[in-house]
Amino acid sequence: MSVSGSGLDVAALQAMANAMFSAPPGAEPAFGQAPAAPSGPINLGSPLPTGGIAVAGQNNPLPVATTLPMTPPVRTTQPGAAELAAPPSFITPRVVPTQAQTPDLHGLQSTVLPAMPKGGNGFAGVPEGFAALLPGTAPAPNLSDAAVPSSAQPPSSPYYFLGDASSASGVPASPPLNLTRLSDPFGLSAPTRISPELPLSSAAAPASPSAPSFYFADLGEKPAAPKVPPGRGIFDVATVRRDFPILSTRVSGGKPLVWLDNAATTQKPQSVIDRISYFYANENSNIHRAAHELAARATDAYESARKKVANFIGASSPEEIIFVRGTTEGINLVAQSWGKQNIGEGDEIVISHLEHHANIVPWQMLAAEKGAVLRVIPVDNTGQVRLDEYQKLLSSRTKIVAVTQVSNALGTVVPVKEIIDLGHRYGAKVLIDGAQSVSHMRVDVQALDADFFVFSGHKLFGPTGIGVVYGKRDLLEHMPPYQGGGNMIEDVTFDKTVYQGPPARFEAGTGNIADAVGLGAAIDYIERLGMENIARQEHDLLEYGTEALCRIPGLCMIGTAKHKTSVMSFVLEGFTTAEVGQALSEEGIAVRSGHHCAQPILRRFGLEFTVRPSLAFYNTFEEIDLLAATVRRLSQTRRSG
Ligand code: ALA
Repeated sequence: MSVSGSGLDVAALQAMANAMFSAPPGAEPAFGQAPAAPSGPINLGSPLPTGGIAVAGQNNPLPVATTLPMTPPVRTTQPGAAELAAPPSFITPRVVPTQAQTPDLHGLQSTVLPAMPKGGNGFAGVPEGFAALLPGTAPAPNLSDAAVPSSAQPPSSPYYFLGDASSASGVPASPPLNLTRLSDPFGLSAPTRISPELPLSSAAAPASPSAPSFYFADLGEKPAAPKVPPGRGIFDVATVRRDFPILSTRVSGGKPLVWLDNAATTQKPQSVIDRISYFYANENSNIHRAAHELAARATDAYESARKKVANFIGASSPEEIIFVRGTTEGINLVAQSWGKQNIGEGDEIVISHLEHHANIVPWQMLAAEKGAVLRVIPVDNTGQVRLDEYQKLLSSRTKIVAVTQVSNALGTVVPVKEIIDLGHRYGAKVLIDGAQSVSHMRVDVQALDADFFVFSGHKLFGPTGIGVVYGKRDLLEHMPPYQGGGNMIEDVTFDKTVYQGPPARFEAGTGNIADAVGLGAAIDYIERLGMENIARQEHDLLEYGTEALCRIPGLCMIGTAKHKTSVMSFVLEGFTTAEVGQALSEEGIAVRSGHHCAQPILRRFGLEFTVRPSLAFYNTFEEIDLLAATVRRLSQTRRSG
């Protein structure tokens, strides 16, 4: 099949891309089918919290409830061929598996709680079309504070309120689902290996013989019964969407774009686009404040962005904020600077099974170089990290723990506060990968007591090519530079160089000045919208989308942790993930289908690929309806054919 109007065979391209990304270096990619999706009844489970969204560092979790049952454990397929094939062996640090686990039992009860009240005191508004406030043809949005003309300042109250706060609160909850007990339908009890270089791991070890079987929803062919009527969210989404010009774009032969690939990258509001444009039109210079007027403007804009980042994540000072290209570079910086200085032979580095490759490979490289040991916290069958197993991994040999706050592949919200506190008890430093969390929840690095926190601007409605490393000041003070060159020095002779203090010590060369400024504008935008409002809106979308998708025959949701955000990873019986991606693309719906740069966690569930719709606050209930209807239609073609 081709994408209408383009002539592109998207399925073939996706299959090739998946095969290429999953093939070992030097090996021929296997352009085959993804592993078959599971057969049998639908696995319906709620990934949603029943008692409040667990947002680490947030003092007052949001009141949320769900009529969906708690999450059942999931095992979908046997490992694919690629999983069992010989691995590349360029980097072979020692990896010590942890003990066997038994399935989590969350799924044994159907829980019916009242629907989440909408509005009320928490009723939120939207930012006004900020770009419209800008004068003339040279807009000046979100300028560094000193440079903002008073006429371009946003109004003191950047919100207005639409709708009736109580309008959605009376929506009746869905009836409890009819659950059917099945015996190990996805072969969870079969021993398998998550990775060829690992011995039989905890994550994939045989379930205990006494482990319970699982519950599945018997929903037949009933259509989705949405709890939240379309258009009834926290925001006036239509107004918010007008701030994002690309959301009006048409694709696939004239279909409105439905952007559900937010975990890969987010779209940019006009205020960010304008701010970058304004920088190049009015401020562009290298940052060396004293040299001339434009240098002062550029330096002010850049350092103002640093302050915004510091405030946004609760750092104690802007000096704790280092600008890098993105999360990947940030983790490499910590591994190569702090890691090389502090990790030696026999020391241990703890990561989790959920990690993105960016939080695996830099630590593998360091471990291989230093003779250190990489240990992996296993996850349960919902995709949540096992804190009990984590505790067993910790010892005086543990030097650093590096974990994600939100899984990019499954959407699991990891209890990082507990992970940090436990790591600190053993004297370990803790790095949090915030790439997938900062756009969905309030982060406070001091409340978390994180030693390092990294994220990317482009996942936060800002530009690509800019990211952040937060480090506690006393740690940064004692770390060696990551790269050498201009900007990071105090004094250079041929005998020796005196380095700058942080953060300049870690920003060698000319950085991405304009995009740092753009990131500052993105943070301004987010703050106007209100992170707590974003979290509530996305929670409603996730709850609605999860329920709608889980009602589709043959669809299996991958990642059903109690605490989740944004991501609805799934496989569809009888279809490759590329085929599903193509069918969605033909309707204008953009999702990622593939391994999501997180192969270990997908293999933990016996998969190479999933289809991954991922949400942002600008998504609508109608978009989710289209997603679910398209997947349902696809599922019916295979069933009837
Ligand atoms: N890390 C990005 C994703 O999850 C690219 O898709």
